Amino acid sequence: MGALADDNLQKLLRELHEKASGDQARWADREARGSDTDSGYEILRLSEFYLAISPQEGELLYLLARASKAHRLVEFGASFGISTLYLAAAAADNGGHLFTTEVQPEKCAAARAHLKRASLTDHATLLEGDARETLKGIDGPVDFLLLDGWKGMYLSVFELLRPKMAKSALVAADNWSHDGAADYVAHVLDSRSGFTTRMINYMGISCFTD
Ligand SMILES: C[S@@+](CC[C@H](N)C(=O)[O-])C[C@H]1O[C@@H](n2cnc3c(N)ncnc32)[C@H](O)[C@@H]1O
Repeated sequence: MGALADDNLQKLLRELHEKASGDQARWADREARGSDTDSGYEILRLSEFYLAISPQEGELLYLLARASKAHRLVEFGASFGISTLYLAAAAADNGGHLFTTEVQPEKCAAARAHLKRASLTDHATLLEGDARETLKGIDGPVDFLLLDGWKGMYLSVFELLRPKMAKSALVAADNWSHDGAADYVAHVLDSRSGFTTRMINYMGISCFTD
């Protein structure tokens, strides 16, 4: 039984997925009130939104990380830490470590508290700030990367880590059909990138196979 099966973690994940499912209603409420200067998708950048992966995606990421025996895992975009918990559980089971990133301070505090509640703090480090800066100091080899921050930054985060990636690195990019990620998608689909890529639901899974 792996760390993901832990009762305490499962209870926390159920709680957080339930809260995340309120995003739709929060969005509708914000739009109806016409509050803030934001509109449409811009509202989703507010720190109250979870924007989290689904339980199925979380389990898929956990399994991919376990099966690939990923030792050093990196996440771009922790939000409240839902995907972070799945990856930290895989890191714990693999005897490795997760480096996750988040730019919004309120979300960082929440993600840290959730890691603590799940007793996974020894297996994950949250780097607070812009991932394009905080990830500069990461040592290689990076075995597993989850891209789930703002889509327009996927390619720059990928390129920052590319020189540090392990030979058989796996990269999962959530919502990759989003227009903002088009340059990243074109890059990994190009055979010269050295990656083989397939789409599973909303997620592009790329493996360095060159
Ligand atoms: C889609 S949400 C992440 C959801 C999370 N992976 C989950 O499944 O629970 C995207 C997050 O990326 C963060 N983000 C966006 N740009 C960032 C950057 N440059 N550095 C670090 N975090 C960033 C946002 O603040 C937001 O919380």
